Amino acid sequence: MILVTGGCGFIGSAFILDWLAQDREPVLNLDLLTYAGHPGNLQALQSHSGYRFVRGDIGDQALLAALLREHRPRAIVHLAAESHVDRSIAGPDPFIQTNVVGTTRLLQAAHGHWSRLPPAEAAAFRFLNVSTDEVFGSLGADDPAFSETHPYRPNSPYSASKASADHFARAWCHTFGLPVITTNCSNNYGPRQFPEKLIPLVIHHALAGRPLPVYGDGLQVRDWLHVNDHCSALRTVLDQGRPGETYNIGGRSERTNLEVVHAICRVLDEARPGRRHAELIRHVDDRCGHDRRYAIDDRKIASQLGWKPAVAFEQGIRDTVQWYLANSDWVASIHSGAYRQGAPQSNPARHSA
Ligand code: NAD
Ligand code: TYD
Repeated sequence: MILVTGGCGFIGSAFILDWLAQDREPVLNLDLLTYAGHPGNLQALQSHSGYRFVRGDIGDQALLAALLREHRPRAIVHLAAESHVDRSIAGPDPFIQTNVVGTTRLLQAAHGHWSRLPPAEAAAFRFLNVSTDEVFGSLGADDPAFSETHPYRPNSPYSASKASADHFARAWCHTFGLPVITTNCSNNYGPRQFPEKLIPLVIHHALAGRPLPVYGDGLQVRDWLHVNDHCSALRTVLDQGRPGETYNIGGRSERTNLEVVHAICRVLDEARPGRRHAELIRHVDDRCGHDRRYAIDDRKIASQLGWKPAVAFEQGIRDTVQWYLANSDWVASIHSGAYRQGAPQSNPARHSA
């Protein structure tokens, strides 16, 4: 089986749903169910024989040791994190605790598990550390895109905490031999993204007729990667990536924030004729230390592992808006807080740690 951390979040839930839809090995999902963890994301797997859930903290060493001893995963896909830049500016402590301390505890536990595996299993074991392009800092308009050798220059507390985690992951590989692979991907979008992030927030506000907040001039550039493409890239790296290497993953879709907001408005205008959603755009105060541009040079993963994104941004954003239109209950459950009620502690029938 594989252990996925943070599987109730946006990317983690997409990863587990895709993984089990392809009849791969069973998955153990370790998730603390913070505000960002939505148990309903994996509702469809409740009675799936290959899915197990444990509510717990990646910083809990005793729990990690028990889980690894009991389940003996052949890989760890580490997605659990505090992930929102604005929250890291308002209060960095949980970012340090989960992204830095938590990741380090997970690396320690993984090392203990890996070092007790028989040689063939140890050779096949992988620790996949899922990171972000934000660790590289900000690019100017004409700078070349981030390659894997671009220096780390994180600017926000979020990106500093992810950069720190990446350095520890590298150290556990270099010093202890743990077969770690790190991926640095660009901004994901798609279904089930927590509605504090740009795309779901704009969709939600537009549907409610509320202002669409664009930070500063809105000309900051991000590369947008559909979450399904990200999941296929992670599977590729897990299957074929080389321990000790890092791989950049992008969507080949650089857009300014204003372009993204207008793209969403166009799809909504078609879906709800008679309204001009772009009239709701409002420029608001800029984010402190706002990075100007991120861009991914994906030549390494393309040439060495044969992976490239399949979803064009225009189609991906159309599908994403349609998903939010068809799943208004999902967003409503977050705004009402209902998604946190009755959250499972774990699946006791299948877990005895
Ligand atoms: P998310 O915020 O939607 O989900 C994070 C999940 O981690 C939640 O389910 C939460 O409950 C869980 N979690 C948080 N702290 C935990 C802890 N201490 N122990 C166990 N579980 C904990 O995040 P996401 O957008 O799905 O991102 C997943 C990973 O991908 C993160 O590492 C993030 O840094 C990285 N990433 C995300 C993006 C993006 O655009 N969303 C881009 C690049 C990299
Ligand atoms: P976000 O989704 O928070 O991702 P990240 O900060 O990790 O890139 O933001 C994407 C971009 O959109 C970023 O440049 C900040 C901007 N933004 C807005 O202009 N308005 C908003 O309300 C939000 C949440 C983000």
